[in-house]
Amino acid sequence: MNPYLKQYTWSNIQAMLKNNKSTPKEEHKDFRGHLVVITGATSGIGYETARLFASHGAKLLMINRNIKKSEQFKQEITRDYNVQCDYFIADFVHLDQIHAASDMLSHLETDIDVLIHNAGVYNTKKKFTDDDIEEVFQVNYLASFIINYRLKEKLRNQKTVRIIYVNSEGHRFAMAGLKIDDLRWERQRYTGLKGYGSAKTAQLLSMIQFSSYFQGSKVTINAMHPGDVKTNMGENNGNIYKFFKHLIINPSARSPILSAQALYYLGVSDEMEHVSGKFYNFTTEETPAPHALDVGVAEKLWEKSIEMGRL
Ligand SMILES: NC(=O)c1ccc[n+]([C@@H]2O[C@H](COP(=O)([O-])OP(=O)(O)OC[C@H]3O[C@@H](n4cnc5c(N)ncnc54)[C@H](OP(=O)(O)O)[C@@H]3O)[C@@H](O)[C@H]2O)c1
Repeated sequence: MNPYLKQYTWSNIQAMLKNNKSTPKEEHKDFRGHLVVITGATSGIGYETARLFASHGAKLLMINRNIKKSEQFKQEITRDYNVQCDYFIADFVHLDQIHAASDMLSHLETDIDVLIHNAGVYNTKKKFTDDDIEEVFQVNYLASFIINYRLKEKLRNQKTVRIIYVNSEGHRFAMAGLKIDDLRWERQRYTGLKGYGSAKTAQLLSMIQFSSYFQGSKVTINAMHPGDVKTNMGENNGNIYKFFKHLIINPSARSPILSAQALYYLGVSDEMEHVSGKFYNFTTEETPAPHALDVGVAEKLWEKSIEMGRL
């Protein structure tokens, strides 16, 4: 029996279905001189978001895994917007590279204004990293946890910072909740949707803990669903999945320009200045699924993440 079933509220599901079709609020404010750190900016949502922030004058610091794409994108940004644009190479399937990125960020002399955790992957099959951690969990969740954890004191001492998780309505697929004692999927059958949903759930649970840690400071942390948009997500999988994606998912998928619009709003608008610990579908606040609000699991996950992330 699913322990969360009784806590489901039909109106929250209705709201999600409605919000999935909405258009994000727009923000046109200048962001000149502010530093935006974004992970996974070489494709899809991260790419459009980096461009939009740069078009408003923001300085960019991208954390990407691909040096060639990063260099090309840096040149494109510099040519199109003439703003400062740097990158750091880190492949999140390696814990030591996540730590190297955290080291670099913790030694920055300038303040970070917006930190966007965007990098992500979708696997149809269970796969482990060299650190022996399920890959989707490590890339989509643990990397963001390690970076936040390593930066938490630096960020708390700054003037203002907005941390944004590019999360997903897909967290709802982990309906029975995050199984902290079976993160290697030995006692449950792994599916792409459940693996992805669990990683996104973990991120929402960590938001509960981080927003409480940052309470009383000028650091906010929020999560968002960036719409169902056409990107390279899932293209690393086999032909059957790709056929399904191109035939069924892509035709109704929208443009990641909308995701960027939402992220710019959440990162810059005055309305979001003091908001923390919330989940948004584009720019509309929503209640996450009950299993992503379980404080008891969030507390256990915090300890487990410290151990798994070698913190
Ligand atoms: N597309 C959607 O409809 C949708 C819906 C809900 C949530 N999201 C979320 O949106 C975020 C961005 O995804 P997207 O749709 O824009 O997909 P995407 O086009 O595949 O972009 C993913 C980004 O993450 C980077 N990345 C992947 N694995 C990495 C690793 N091991 N280490 C470091 N970076 C890595 C990719 O780098 P490369 O360029 O080198 O591959 C790319 O820059 C993800 O967190 C995803 O879960 C997407």
